[in-house]
Amino acid sequence: MQNSATAQAKTGHRTFVYLAAIFAALGGLLFGYDTGVISGAELFFRNDFTLTTFALEVIVSGVLAGAAFGALIGGRLADLFGRRKLLIATAIIFAAGAILCALAPSAVILAVGRIIVGLGIGLSSSGVPVYISEVAPADARGWQVSLFQLAITVGILLAYLVDYAFAGIQGWRWMFGLAVIPAAIFGTGMFFLPESPRWLLRRGDRAAARAMLARIRDTGDVETELREIEQSVTKAPESGRFSDLLGRSLRPALVVGIGLAIFQQITGINTVIYYAPLIIQSAGISSASGAILATAGIGAVNVLMTIFSMWLIDRQGRRPLLLVGIGGMAVTLCLLGFVFHASHQSAGMAWLAVISMMAYVGSFAISLGPIFWLLISEIYPLKIRNSAEGVAATFNWGANLLVTLTFLTLVETLGPSRTFWLYGLCAIAAGLFSYYFVPETKGRTLEEIEESLHIKKAV
Ligand code: BGC
Repeated sequence: MQNSATAQAKTGHRTFVYLAAIFAALGGLLFGYDTGVISGAELFFRNDFTLTTFALEVIVSGVLAGAAFGALIGGRLADLFGRRKLLIATAIIFAAGAILCALAPSAVILAVGRIIVGLGIGLSSSGVPVYISEVAPADARGWQVSLFQLAITVGILLAYLVDYAFAGIQGWRWMFGLAVIPAAIFGTGMFFLPESPRWLLRRGDRAAARAMLARIRDTGDVETELREIEQSVTKAPESGRFSDLLGRSLRPALVVGIGLAIFQQITGINTVIYYAPLIIQSAGISSASGAILATAGIGAVNVLMTIFSMWLIDRQGRRPLLLVGIGGMAVTLCLLGFVFHASHQSAGMAWLAVISMMAYVGSFAISLGPIFWLLISEIYPLKIRNSAEGVAATFNWGANLLVTLTFLTLVETLGPSRTFWLYGLCAIAAGLFSYYFVPETKGRTLEEIEESLHIKKAV
């Protein structure tokens, strides 16, 4: 009898943590949806407004600039006010941005709406991974934080599908506006979810932290985990200020976070995610529907391979997946370069381009995609965790902006083959960087990781 009651309690605790991770991951879905939706919407709002090139650029890339800013301030705000409150605010911002874009009477208001949406994306990218990593048990943290990446990929795929569904009626307002639905679910969910016990303890609220931990752990012994967290708070030399980020003791972790942030983008993922139809058409598939279908295929591979990596990540560890995936990215980028280099265009070559792109996205989905967001939620000391994660996310958005803005110019000046080879070179550099600098964090508690990466190097 007692055994079955204990088993039931365990399942209940696990379910609660799963729910927390799933609802928080909706922040990722909005991130993916709102970055993906523009490619389809752009074709139509151009017809309704007279746009200067600059206005179009602001509407398209304003979201990335907003995200960089959101990530920068979001980390600090989450450290100050708590992970949960910040995520509730994020949901409200997402909803407000979506409504503004959907109802925009002018291009200026649309641009403002997109910047607000960007702010939401930035806040979610600096808040969600840390929140999940702090509520998840150590042995499941890999796949639970990767739910964030999975949600991003599902969001991108949804955006492709919604764009496709509303293209017939040129319904760009619907494309932007529909994001209100996941935003509302995200905000309502976060309202009922627990605050991170680690953040509560850092604030000195032991009783609340203990109560939260008891709700989300399936072991009767939460004292050990509580003590570990407490020790990490008292031992860490940081005061929790931004200036601590520049201290010597944090340097190894900061280098890993910022390095992966930049490599995740300069290896070209968003040239494929944002410009897939264009690339496919220039490879020789001229029909629009063929290009859209192939793009949806790429989106689906992204989702499926992310699920595959979630299955492996707590078993095989982060490093093997990262290294194998980056290797795959380097090879497929070189292949893409060769496809464009071949002087003759044929259906066979065009499909080779599509298959290379799928294999490239699949390799990203088991490596730099989820593992960047996971590691930056794991490797920083508690006192400064969200701020440091926010800095890495800011670099990620900055690099994203840079790549997105330069891609078409690079293709024009270097040609597509050399452009992809350039990204291929960056992938080789990313592999070397990961091999030499990225630590294995599988199965260790956040406090153990902190101890090995941070305190030891400080003394
Ligand atoms: C990256 C995004 C990218 C997405 C693609 C994320 O991890 O940060 O820039 O669009 O993966 O799946």
